[in-house]
Amino acid sequence: MKVATSRSHTEPLALVELPSRKLRADELRVKVVAAGVNPVDWKMREGGPLHLAYSVIGPGKPFVPGIDFAGEVIEAGEKAELAVGARVVGGTDFSRGQHGSYATEVIVKRDQVAEVPANVSFDDAATLPVPAVTAWMAMQEHQKIGPGHKVLVLGAAGGVGLAALQIAKMLGAQAVGVCSSRNVAVVESEGAIAIDYTAGDPLEAAKAHGPYQLVLQLVGSDTYPLAKCRALLTPTGKVELVVIQPRDYWAIAFTGNVKTLLGAPNRARLEPLVDAMSKGRLNARIEATFPLADAEKAHERSRSGKVVGKLLLHP
Ligand SMILES: NC(=O)c1ccc[n+]([C@@H]2O[C@H](COP(=O)([O-])OP(=O)(O)OC[C@H]3O[C@@H](n4cnc5c(N)ncnc54)[C@H](OP(=O)(O)O)[C@@H]3O)[C@@H](O)[C@H]2O)c1
Repeated sequence: MKVATSRSHTEPLALVELPSRKLRADELRVKVVAAGVNPVDWKMREGGPLHLAYSVIGPGKPFVPGIDFAGEVIEAGEKAELAVGARVVGGTDFSRGQHGSYATEVIVKRDQVAEVPANVSFDDAATLPVPAVTAWMAMQEHQKIGPGHKVLVLGAAGGVGLAALQIAKMLGAQAVGVCSSRNVAVVESEGAIAIDYTAGDPLEAAKAHGPYQLVLQLVGSDTYPLAKCRALLTPTGKVELVVIQPRDYWAIAFTGNVKTLLGAPNRARLEPLVDAMSKGRLNARIEATFPLADAEKAHERSRSGKVVGKLLLHP
């Protein structure tokens, strides 16, 4: 199989041939048709706690980035519950010794994948795992968002942001999305109220549409200060920190309304999202698709912080 990897983060990702390992009874070998690019993929290359964790408990060298994938089962262990030919979407997990999804194939377990119906393309499915699951966890597991609620999304035009706007709408809530002027129309097209952060203080502007049951922080509290975000909440509302900075630690520890969120795709979380996509209630927005050999170009684009929707790789 081929994977995209590099010996250090200063070297560009390039394709390398690796031997495929034998499958265990509870595992599935999936031919990757599309892999989703998330900022965590290049952040992990640069070091930090996740990179350290990968080197200690992960599959060992080389470091293969990527979590999200969609593709076809090409080999199934006898206890893996799915048959060859099944169309699936899921996320790899290095804590189970799995390399990332920037590869022609991945080995995963049944609880990591949801089946993808024929009316959902592999590309569309591959936009779901980390972004939509993160938004889903914030709105369904940490908070119970429903009709009458308002949800403020800081960073509304990116992969997580656009999924969050759609999921809020799906749950009957009103989403308000903060974005730059070039993305106002995109945010409004998802039924959300758009606030242009280039036109003044967006948190001041957000007051007029609140109070919020959820403020989804996808940018960082150096840009959107926590105290101002907390002031926008209902009495039972929460700020969910998807991007966490050291300055946030005191608020996480000492206030009741600031929570951290680690998006973890699995079968149970992906199934309702795939179902929503197959019914046209959740749509993918794909900015660009790169061949796996150009994974480095995809990382350059993702690092710009200007991606609208998702970037994908095709092995
Ligand atoms: N904790 C977790 O489990 C978890 C899970 C997923 C993602 N994340 C993190 O969450 C962040 C967002 O992820 P993503 O996949 O959505 O990233 P992304 O797709 O790269 O987000 C790009 C978007 O961010 C917007 N943006 C940039 N600066 C902004 C600002 N000051 N205000 C509002 N919007 C701004 C841009 O829109 P404009 O051009 O309109 O500014 C762009 O569309 C990343 O840092 C990622 O690492 C964490």
